[in-house]
Amino acid sequence: MQTKKMWEGRFKKELSASVNDFNSSISFDNRLYKEDITGSMAHAAMLCRQGIISKEDCSAILKGLAEIMEDIETGKLEFDMNAEDIHMFIEAELTDRIGDAGKRLHTARSRNDQVALDCRMYVIKTMGDIKSSLLKLIKIISDKASLHLETVMPGYTHLQRAQPVTLAHYIMAYAQMFMRDVTRIEDALERMNYLPLGSGALATTTYPIDRESVAKSLGFDGVMQNSIDGVSDRDFAIESVSDLSMIMMHLSRFSEEIILWCSSEFGFIELDDAYSTGSSIMPQKKNPDIAELVRGKCARVYGSLMTLLTLMKGLPLAYNKDMQEDKEAIFDAVDNTKLCIDIFGEMLETSKVNVGVMRNAAAKGFINATDCADYLVKKGLPFRDAYKITGKIIAYCIDNGKTLETMSMDEYREFCPEFEDGIYPAIDLINCVNGRKVTGGPAAVRVSEQIALCRDFLDKHAAKHID
Ligand code: ARG
Repeated sequence: MQTKKMWEGRFKKELSASVNDFNSSISFDNRLYKEDITGSMAHAAMLCRQGIISKEDCSAILKGLAEIMEDIETGKLEFDMNAEDIHMFIEAELTDRIGDAGKRLHTARSRNDQVALDCRMYVIKTMGDIKSSLLKLIKIISDKASLHLETVMPGYTHLQRAQPVTLAHYIMAYAQMFMRDVTRIEDALERMNYLPLGSGALATTTYPIDRESVAKSLGFDGVMQNSIDGVSDRDFAIESVSDLSMIMMHLSRFSEEIILWCSSEFGFIELDDAYSTGSSIMPQKKNPDIAELVRGKCARVYGSLMTLLTLMKGLPLAYNKDMQEDKEAIFDAVDNTKLCIDIFGEMLETSKVNVGVMRNAAAKGFINATDCADYLVKKGLPFRDAYKITGKIIAYCIDNGKTLETMSMDEYREFCPEFEDGIYPAIDLINCVNGRKVTGGPAAVRVSEQIALCRDFLDKHAAKHID
């Protein structure tokens, strides 16, 4: 039990038990043990290279830390919930094991730059994991899209049937969003990959430390240029959780589609039994709980973002204990986003598409009305006139239970003498889709190109992954 505090020299009384609990962060920051030990090893090796600690002390420290890491990982060493935080715990454990050499580890270092380093390393690693998960999800989407280049469905505006698209085109819209999310993470990673260690409590140190070599050994691109900023900055975390919020917003929108599409009213897709749940009272129910939970968890990731932004907004430089509150928000956001991306991908991959239902829905609702108007425009009518005539035809169809496909030629000619047999192929749904060959459009040729570009993106960005 670590009841003795490292800073006890200045104090006349022991900390009260309730304050000890209130102050302690080990119950949650213990998950930084790997980053803490790795950072300490790099720090000790540098102290030795610079002649600040002896070779003997350095080897004892490195060996002791390696053993602590192993013992934590094998479950031999348990975190002492009485310790103030993970940093104190590991240092005290090291000193218990190797004696005086352990007390030399903290030379030229403060917990302020230590925690800044640990958090940064943790965020860098986990954002890399999030990126891998996103790449997997994008692959699932693009593979599914490639099977549905000709699966016609209604596209919507205002949730009203608008124009025909294909399922491939529709879901590739989400692939585009997730690709931007990947590049957003890469941008953020590039910005945050600088070493805060060496900032000390806030004003560095008088010891001749070599921050650049520590940066190099830990895989950073360089060192943070201002020690006050080094210990105070949490924008790397805020930016990351903001990126996670954006991912969750995209996932939540996609979840909303899935939830709608699973309803009997839409019936566009069916989720695999392994990814749906039943009701405790209504035997007929098959609920899209996974998608609903993803939509729901979006709220808590936004919550974490708000926590972090609000936490930092009034803090004077440099370190303030308030900043200890950043960790649970970061961890919760990272954990939940990763879970959501992975499980959403599995749910999508195993879902069954009801091609016929989608197609039938596209045949209703006059979603080829624009194409009917465009047909008349190609015959020389101004668009506004063609639009008005088509509007009248639709009103006639509604009154007489017809669709544009079932209108006879005589009926068409009543509205405009320019109509000829060519109107029927012009309003055929697959022709409507494939006629939209503009870059970015739903035509199968264009969506195939989009998928090919997406696959190039996956290859390129998988290679760029920082592990
Ligand atoms: N547990 C602390 C945190 O998470 C570590 C840094 C403490 N520094 C200090 N000067 N009290 O922020």
